[in-house]
Amino acid sequence: MTYATPKSGAHFRQAVRRMPLGVSSNFRYWGDDKTVYVKRGRGARLWDLDDNAYIDYRLGYGPVILGHCHPEVDAAARRGQEVGTVYALGTEGELRVADLIHQMMPGAELVRFSNSGTEAVMAALRLARAVTGKDNYVTFEGSYHGLFDAAMWRIDLENQKPGEEPKLVTYGDGVPGLVQQLFWQVPYNDANRLEDVLRRHGDRIAAVMIEPILGNCCGIPSTPEFLRAARELCTKYGVLMIVDEVKTGFRVAKGGAQELYGVQADIFTIAKAMGNGYPIAAVCGTESIMRRFGRGVAHGGTYTAQAMSLGAAEATLTILRDSNALADIATYGRAMQTGMSRILEERNIPHSFAGHPSMGGLFLREDAPTNYRDWKQSDYQFYDTLAANLIGRGVMCEPDSREPWFISAAHDQACLKETLATFAEAVDITLNPAAEKPRLWAATQADMGENATAAE
Ligand SMILES: Cc1ncc(COP(=O)(O)O)c(C=O)c1O
Repeated sequence: MTYATPKSGAHFRQAVRRMPLGVSSNFRYWGDDKTVYVKRGRGARLWDLDDNAYIDYRLGYGPVILGHCHPEVDAAARRGQEVGTVYALGTEGELRVADLIHQMMPGAELVRFSNSGTEAVMAALRLARAVTGKDNYVTFEGSYHGLFDAAMWRIDLENQKPGEEPKLVTYGDGVPGLVQQLFWQVPYNDANRLEDVLRRHGDRIAAVMIEPILGNCCGIPSTPEFLRAARELCTKYGVLMIVDEVKTGFRVAKGGAQELYGVQADIFTIAKAMGNGYPIAAVCGTESIMRRFGRGVAHGGTYTAQAMSLGAAEATLTILRDSNALADIATYGRAMQTGMSRILEERNIPHSFAGHPSMGGLFLREDAPTNYRDWKQSDYQFYDTLAANLIGRGVMCEPDSREPWFISAAHDQACLKETLATFAEAVDITLNPAAEKPRLWAATQADMGENATAAE
């Protein structure tokens, strides 16, 4: 039985009259008759307007590390509200959260708060440019650093001609082509290509900006050798290393991917898991670099270090620091992958998993991917249909095969059992040639500015 969503559908038809695509982010539009609206969430589950229940593996793209509406976090956020909203002045909570961040990620010698991952990454890049006196930067294929012009570029694998390198294109319209003159995008896990760019252009490059695990591309991890090499190359060529831990921070380990890999950034960004869904982010780094804020480098914002989010972050980080939550999350992720693997093996479906078990990507090819180009070789069309079949039966994974499955501390054995039973059922339906092949409007399509069908 698949879910019916008449109330979500009716809401969509009203919402689209007032809001583009009927939503507040392109990624939330899944089609005129398939866009889902949430009534509420608790723990690892959410309910849509039609009271269909889902086990949530999207978790708002990762933040909800302790589960939806976590009582301690919400109570702390309410205590933050008692302080008030914004004063254009500091509050005491900032220092408490900055100290917690430093305890868990010692590379955060100093901390500056932002509201979102995008804002934090923008600030990190500006800081790197100011410190080095250089303008250019390097990113990696398959990475995502937020919706701002400098980062809204990707290689176009869909239209790559045989024998040719893929072209760089923007995520949708409105991004000035001029920006392309400022950066190089290098294949992930390829230290030779990185060194080639740094050797030739290092005198113009302020920063290498890297996601240690590609949180928007199947969870592909950097190899330890590659991340270490990137660190050494940055030092060798006088370039700052910005590690974007917006998704990995406080998720893959208490000290983030930098602890996992034993690699220290000059500047790094954190966001999502630190607030369990409340909007808060930060730029962190070594003291000598971070002291440039306010000494020639502008940074601020009306809502930075808002007291409610600070309260939530203090509670979330304290729980993550003092409990085994992250280890339990990883254990759940591994058990889920083992169970899925068994189901896929029984049906002779080649597959692999990429990334950390707390944010792993299901990849329909035998060998796990090591870079974005590998994704193209997988059976992502099968994934698209499988994802739609899962969502329609109560397993809320991301419809786009490039997004990992996120686990929270609230996912328990009942969730696991239900997920695996639904997974087996959804795989069988996807395999059935006579069955309908549903497909949800994939986030990346909207993301890339392709035309949606929603009535204006
Ligand atoms: C690695 C990374 N950096 C930056 C961002 C942007 O964060 P936000 O959506 O909070 O602006 C994201 C969002 O998914 C991300 O995964």
